Amino acid sequence: VIAFFQPKLLAGRKVVVTAGPTFEALDPIRGITNHSSGKMGFAIARAAREAGADVVVIAGPVRLATPRGVRRVDVTSARQMLAATEAETPQADVFVATAAVADWRPATESGQKIKKDGSGQPPALSFTENPDILATVARSERAQRGALFCVGFAAESHDLVDNARAKRERKGVPLLVGNIGPSTFGQDDNQLLLVDAQGVVELPRASKLALARQLVAEIARRARPAGT
Ligand code: CTP
Ligand code: CA
Repeated sequence: VIAFFQPKLLAGRKVVVTAGPTFEALDPIRGITNHSSGKMGFAIARAAREAGADVVVIAGPVRLATPRGVRRVDVTSARQMLAATEAETPQADVFVATAAVADWRPATESGQKIKKDGSGQPPALSFTENPDILATVARSERAQRGALFCVGFAAESHDLVDNARAKRERKGVPLLVGNIGPSTFGQDDNQLLLVDAQGVVELPRASKLALARQLVAEIARRARPAGT
């Protein structure tokens, strides 16, 4: 048997992945969140690790085992996820934002449980927009000059291609991955659409791990080679 030495696709590179939902507290016992399972992000973290990368997954509240060899940073809110991401991406080569970040958080977090006041009227809740983690990182100097390759995700319920194209432009990222949501939330398989400056490539329905491996290969092909 002749074995060829093939260096792993992402050997020596650092990959940061956000995954899962965020949870935005309203009071000590309640908050708003969403149904993201984190499975796609964890599959990408695993696949990037298999490809030889040094991988950090920044996870919102999810019930998933950490892939072998992956470093995990657990966070709750979008603001915590942004802080953790900004701490990890300055040394990274690739940033993959799969997290379903809550778009809004309650404008104020009550230190005590909000009680019914007996009037029969619900409390008037108001919300504040959360920071856009992907757009913030994509605007950084390293991302702008191509040293940090940023990948966005978009779950769309309709007009996937048009929405994914528009989102790629708006976020300022070289690669945007679309999937039809929220039907894929929590499922073990998925189907992806890769949108870049060249156009659209479809990765047909497969397990999230199989798709993650294909996506990692696509990212490795597009990201700037090590040391440049
Ligand atoms: N994203 C992020 N921070 C946010 C919102 C989104 O990092 N506050 C990232 C997601 O992780 C994903 C991409 O941006 O990679 C697209 O998220 P999506 O929710 O589809 O886009 P939004 O800009 O929030 O637009 P909308 O939900 O209105 O479609
Ligand atoms: Ca959103």
